[in-house]
Amino acid sequence: MKVTIRSVAKLAGVAPSTVSHYLNQSAPISPVTAQSVERAIVALNYRVNLGARSLRVRKTHSIGLVIPNISTPFFGELASVIENALWDRDYQTLLCISQRDVERELLQLANLVSRQVDGILLAYTSEQTKAIRFSKEIAVPFVFIDRSVPGEYSVATDNYHGGQLAARHLVELGHRCIGMLCGEAEIQNVAERIDGFQTELRRSGFEVSPAYMLHGRQELQLGIRVAELLAMEPRPTAVFATNDIVAVGAWRTLLEAGFRVPQDFSNVGFDDIEISRFLVPPLTTVGQPTSEMGAKAVDLLLQLMSHQAEDGNKVATNFLIAPTLFIRGSTTTPSTNK
Ligand code: RIB
Repeated sequence: MKVTIRSVAKLAGVAPSTVSHYLNQSAPISPVTAQSVERAIVALNYRVNLGARSLRVRKTHSIGLVIPNISTPFFGELASVIENALWDRDYQTLLCISQRDVERELLQLANLVSRQVDGILLAYTSEQTKAIRFSKEIAVPFVFIDRSVPGEYSVATDNYHGGQLAARHLVELGHRCIGMLCGEAEIQNVAERIDGFQTELRRSGFEVSPAYMLHGRQELQLGIRVAELLAMEPRPTAVFATNDIVAVGAWRTLLEAGFRVPQDFSNVGFDDIEISRFLVPPLTTVGQPTSEMGAKAVDLLLQLMSHQAEDGNKVATNFLIAPTLFIRGSTTTPSTNK
């Protein structure tokens, strides 16, 4: 059965004109009513007919930014860069934290639309996200950050190349048996890091066997599992953590187990969060160009907003920014080669 504005209105317990006001942002509606409408839209999977919608002219000078969490330093740093860049351009940032919950993420996006933001930036939380479809159904300019989304506008690091840089560095140092700590490998950007790392290793005649790849969340706790790698036979001489926070988490376990970094065990991360530069020795890591990523995403979004009125056929682009390998004190030649 076709889902219409009427069906949405009925489920939400409001008049069809209220749903229309919500969708077209043509009149203010209360947050409670907006939330009922959002829930009904989600429940009925209502698809908005963009062709029938009038373009908005009113601007609120506010931008929605949705990120998975704020406890991970990478997202804190990225949010700060974006907030600053928007502030400099006279925009207020409405920050939402999806707490790694796809339903919450979707409701937050719908809520931002009802608050009439002028644009949205999103780092989605999982490949199960409903945000990609949602972004196609709204008339609000939308840019994905930190993940590439085919057919949509996005700004991300070249994660595949980043994985290659890490692998090349370890191979050049002489490491042959390497472990991996994979933080949320199902997310496209991390999957690409792993792919780049493995492909580069294979090119040199090596690879990380699945038993040496430990999986978990992008959190300090995953780093603790480096203990499992230390117990393996043959024991790896290095680890590649797909996120700095995980590499930082591995640090204490390595020291407590009596391993010196880097003499006994090399540790490489990915991100270049601030704290990685303050470890002793500092962490070798593949740096994400966080400032550049944030600035580029803001530029792109503002560009889309200014072209919104004439943007009939969008030609979406996935911008990839090159990572940089920062060679610091946490990596060296394996002791077996010395
Ligand atoms: O620790 C946060 C990580 O998740 C980063 O590597 C970033 O790219 C994100 O996807």
